[in-house]
Amino acid sequence: MNHPSFEGQPAIEAPAWVKNRKLIDWVRRVAAMTKPARIVWCDGSQEEYDRLCAQMVEAGTLKKLNPAKRPNSYLAWSDPSDVARVEDRTFICSQREEDAGPTNNWIAPDDMRATLDGLFDGAMRGRTMYVVPFSMGPLGSPIAHIGVELSDSPYVATNMRIMTRMGRQVYDVLGEEGDFVPCVHSVGAPLAAGEKDVSWPCNKTKYIVHFPESREIWSYGSGYGGNALLGKKCFALRIASTMGRAEGWLAEHMLILGVTSPQGRKHHVAAAFPSACGKTNFAMLIPPEGLNGWKISTIGDDIAWIKPGKDGRLYAINPEAGYFGVAPGTSEKTNFNAMATLKENVIFTNVALTDDGDVWWEGMTDEPPAHLIDWQGMDWTPASAKESGRKAAHPNARFTAPASQCPSIDADWENPAGVPINAFIFGGRRSTTVPLVTEARNWVEGVYMAATMGSETTAAAAGQQGVVRRDPFAMLPFCGYNMSDYFSHWLKTGERLEKLNAKLPKIFCVNWFRKGADGKFAWPGFGENMRVLSWMVGRIEGTAQGEEHAFGVSPHYEDIDWSGLDFSREQFEQVISVDDAAWRNELALHAELFDTLRNGLPPALTQAKKALEGKLAA
Ligand code: GTP
Ligand code: SPV
Ligand code: MN
Repeated sequence: MNHPSFEGQPAIEAPAWVKNRKLIDWVRRVAAMTKPARIVWCDGSQEEYDRLCAQMVEAGTLKKLNPAKRPNSYLAWSDPSDVARVEDRTFICSQREEDAGPTNNWIAPDDMRATLDGLFDGAMRGRTMYVVPFSMGPLGSPIAHIGVELSDSPYVATNMRIMTRMGRQVYDVLGEEGDFVPCVHSVGAPLAAGEKDVSWPCNKTKYIVHFPESREIWSYGSGYGGNALLGKKCFALRIASTMGRAEGWLAEHMLILGVTSPQGRKHHVAAAFPSACGKTNFAMLIPPEGLNGWKISTIGDDIAWIKPGKDGRLYAINPEAGYFGVAPGTSEKTNFNAMATLKENVIFTNVALTDDGDVWWEGMTDEPPAHLIDWQGMDWTPASAKESGRKAAHPNARFTAPASQCPSIDADWENPAGVPINAFIFGGRRSTTVPLVTEARNWVEGVYMAATMGSETTAAAAGQQGVVRRDPFAMLPFCGYNMSDYFSHWLKTGERLEKLNAKLPKIFCVNWFRKGADGKFAWPGFGENMRVLSWMVGRIEGTAQGEEHAFGVSPHYEDIDWSGLDFSREQFEQVISVDDAAWRNELALHAELFDTLRNGLPPALTQAKKALEGKLAA
């Protein structure tokens, strides 16, 4: 290492290629506070990545997978207490509580700073502080934004290299004066002199903190996913949503895909589904037998930054460079493209290890291997699992893989101009009530649908699972400001486009997860979702028919192309029907949400609700 250091006084001298004074001063201040033993200025090279991975293998954080099975790939097992985002420990510290709004945890900035000062004092003792410069969006493009994460986790540094454009080129873009979002991350586990490290250091106390006004992120106590890879949810959603609000654009929890019809016409859609509700799968969909004239290409699988163009259309980019995707349920059958993306250069977290040094998770194959080491390092066999109910992989086990390895990647995925959006899709995980697909009759009704969306909670966040909660725009855990203001921002965006005489994107609401009386999914999902998407394209092009009901327009059985699939009228009825009593209940839940958000709730949404209630009563 070219930066010698000694305990308590790390060399903070920046390499010659770092010229940004604000950055150097800030690194110095954070180092003085957190007192790391060493500072490493990451250059993003393959050599550096390989070196950090080798160090983590040595430390027991990573296992190197069998290169014959999974070249250049690793497996990490986290501490069993650090496996998902912690929403109740996530804070939006705006000056005014109203600006965070009732759906966010708020603490006054000064109070929070005092807490953080205490927590971060000496937090990195005995560890290396990695300076991780990254660009959200293609390097140097006008829509990209730069962040720098200071982290004492080499796992974070290596994952950030996959998930973002990370490395020396970022300093070139920053130059001497360039601005960046400062992100400080510590696992909160300082090491005393001579103390042996654990394989996954973390702290019971966790704080994931955002200061939207000064555009800063501070994360303490967790090394996992969105808690720790700060470019993702913290920056690209919570901070970026506040930037977008101020500057007239949108930062959304959305996949972006291209869909080309058999006639060769290409459209783009952006879809918001809550965490672990199908974005990665939909973004990489392979049309089923019978619809193979259609083609899907992938622009992004989790986050979209969307800006109005001068032509009145909305243009979307994927600010990320990798996928941090849910492993369980991913197979050659359900998501062939994801499996192909995972062939090499992957970091797996909390999946099971096979006897031949590869990985496995529930749903990867029909038959589980005869023996595994589960994500907690214990022997696992199908018989032992049956007896104990233990999963081989944690339900929120994930893979980190480069987007460029995805076979369905769109030629325009790095186009700094973005792709024009023709439709938005919103969808929750609902075993009852919500039909397979509904088209909103206009922008306001679509915003209403998205705003009132409910979804059953998943393993992506710590806490109870499978309970229905309102998750407006799939942004409940990710909106960096007041949700009522966020709704207004969406309504205003529509008004702005209308003034430019633009054709607004259509808005649809979907539900792939309705269950039958047998408790099984009543809709086949995955590739078969192409049938719904092709109906939507028909609606965009003005060729497909539908039936109007209280909440919008849904297809008749005849309006869907069923070629190659046996799906009866009765089965379709199970997934498309609207039950009045269930919907009266649902509207009561909308009322609860609107009551929570009553301060600043746009009147247009209250009116939309009244109109729907009237239609239901009629
Ligand atoms: P985040 O990365 O948490 O934002 O999740 P995501 O929205 O990208 O979800 P993902 O596509 O990874 O899917 C989550 C889980 O839902 C996986 O286990 C999938 O196999 C499953 N899933 C995805 N699409 C469908 C579908 O159409 N039907 C059913 N039944 N399950 C699906
Ligand atoms: C999500 O929970 O929506 C994710 C995973 O995409 S994480 O990065 O952990 O937030
Ligand atoms: Mn997500």
